[in-house]
Amino acid sequence: MKIEPAKAIRGHIAVPGDKSISHRAVLVGAIADGETRVEGFGRSEDTEATIVAVRALGVTVHDDEVDALRVEGAGLRGLREASEPIDCRNSGTTLRLLGGILAGQEGRFELTGDESLRRRPVDRIAEPLAQMGADVETEDGKPPLVVGGGALHGIRYDLPVASAQVKSCVLLAGLYAGGRTTVVEPVPTRDHTQRLQVAAGAAVTKRQGRISIGPAERLEPVAVSVPGDFSAAAPFIVAATLLPGSELTIHGLGLNPTRTGLLDVLERMGARITAFHRRRSGGEPIGDLEVQSAELTATRVSAEEVPRLVDELPLFALAAACARGESVVEGARELRVKETDRIETVTTSLRALGIRIAARDDGFGVRGVPSRPRGGGMSSHGDHRIAMLGAVAGLVSRQGVELEDPQAVAVSFPGFFELLDSVTQR
Ligand code: S3P
Repeated sequence: MKIEPAKAIRGHIAVPGDKSISHRAVLVGAIADGETRVEGFGRSEDTEATIVAVRALGVTVHDDEVDALRVEGAGLRGLREASEPIDCRNSGTTLRLLGGILAGQEGRFELTGDESLRRRPVDRIAEPLAQMGADVETEDGKPPLVVGGGALHGIRYDLPVASAQVKSCVLLAGLYAGGRTTVVEPVPTRDHTQRLQVAAGAAVTKRQGRISIGPAERLEPVAVSVPGDFSAAAPFIVAATLLPGSELTIHGLGLNPTRTGLLDVLERMGARITAFHRRRSGGEPIGDLEVQSAELTATRVSAEEVPRLVDELPLFALAAACARGESVVEGARELRVKETDRIETVTTSLRALGIRIAARDDGFGVRGVPSRPRGGGMSSHGDHRIAMLGAVAGLVSRQGVELEDPQAVAVSFPGFFELLDSVTQR
């Protein structure tokens, strides 16, 4: 697909429902007592993997509309063994969160995924689940993951890496454990699981980086209204910031502070972004965002900031390429275990477009110039975030970008190119 250079980004949009919250609504709904209603559901290949997985475990999910569904919860311990391994496809969130729930069920469950997921670490959840008393096997720390569920006991777990997926896995297993389960985070990560557990009546407390949960007897079904996905909005935010004359409003966007690190980083680079009409929806902060183009200067992203923009770091690299001066991201080794090794895929892709970016062991350094990058050809490497990076790079480039494998966007945002086109002025 050829992405031609653009003049500006102008208009009003809403993006699909948050992917992280959509997964959690289905997973928590699957073990609630009664019917969970989800509206604003972010339909994508990843969230579809979660629906297919809970159906394989005996849960009925009604697809009422593209963005509305109902989950008939089977109760806390009501999931049944599947006849075949559960295929989580490309979705690390499905595999790691479901692993925590299955540790509390009777039976033996096998979780696997596509080629990319089978290269990603699951020992990070196998270890705490085994400490809690589950019977867990992996293939050298990678999927398939086999979980033999049973009686669990609470633990205190100090997360060795700042990962919301691992935190969520342990907090979901904690619903089934005797005694309290406590997770200690080195740096705050997205907290959607805790918020949903609280809404469902679970005994969750939080104090200074320690999140604690007590065993549950049952979960109440909740009505989940999913806000717009900040990570899906990020390509639009970066494109509108970089293209002079842009003015874009994004409505109904999730503004959970554990997710909006990109806003803070762009603002200190000089971006002109205003959040207004701030409100709450279903236990999550939301609002509207107005983005105007601006000239940027370089900045440094530190390890403490990384979890709040971990999925946006590829786009940050592009913003930094167009900012005056040298930018650095450090403490982001986690990028190496995403859908691709994103330190490699970001740096090689952007270098092919004429951008001066160098990989570091735990991040990258960018030498930015306040002008349009040349452009050229790059592949998404089957990674949805790299495909979106390529699209924005094409718009802000001089020659456009020939993007190989653009359909990878469907993992999180099937209508991405159409929505981008609708606000692009050429
Ligand atoms: C996610 C957590 C993050 C993020 C991923 C979604 C989640 O992963 O990169 O896209 O929904 O919990 P880690 O928790 O592994 O950092």
